[in-house]
Amino acid sequence: MKAVYPGSFDPVTNGHTDIIERAAAVFDEVIVAVAPNVGKEPMFTVDERVGMLKDVCAPLKNVTVEAFEGLLVSYVSNRGAGVIIKGLRAISDFEFEFEMALMNRKLAPSIDTVFMMTGVEHSYLSSSIVKEVAKLGGSVGGLVPPLVEDHLQRRLREGARRNKQW
Ligand code: PNS
Repeated sequence: MKAVYPGSFDPVTNGHTDIIERAAAVFDEVIVAVAPNVGKEPMFTVDERVGMLKDVCAPLKNVTVEAFEGLLVSYVSNRGAGVIIKGLRAISDFEFEFEMALMNRKLAPSIDTVFMMTGVEHSYLSSSIVKEVAKLGGSVGGLVPPLVEDHLQRRLREGARRNKQW
């Protein structure tokens, strides 16, 4: 069975990669689908986010990465997938995810949402908190893949030169 793991991934964290690995072990094929529209200005363009994810997922042969726009269920159905994967870190994630899952079911009853739990060591991780720590000069080693850490440092240096805030 083919599954889609959607998200903003701005940038991908070790919590995301944990879910991708778990999903790849359960499903025949996993498409990591990068959404362009995050609430505020993203730190990385969609192409940059897709590029980082492709590098990180390269060892997983049944995982592909692409960008998507519009309604998630339309994209999932166009890709011939039957499952949406969502990662859950804590009970606080559940209410919003539950709402989205039920809306997606209302829109496309044949597509199911499967929730996977991240490893407890990643339960406090989010892209936003990683960006905040990095911006304030803290170490994000062990929180994101090493190549993402390099991208983050580079982007923050560029931002400092252009007085840019994320
Ligand atoms: O990583 P995020 O920001 O939590 O991902 C949220 C995402 C992209 C999965 C969600 O916003 C989404 O599904 N967007 C696509 C638009 C859509 O279908 N909206 C209706 C969902 S109920």
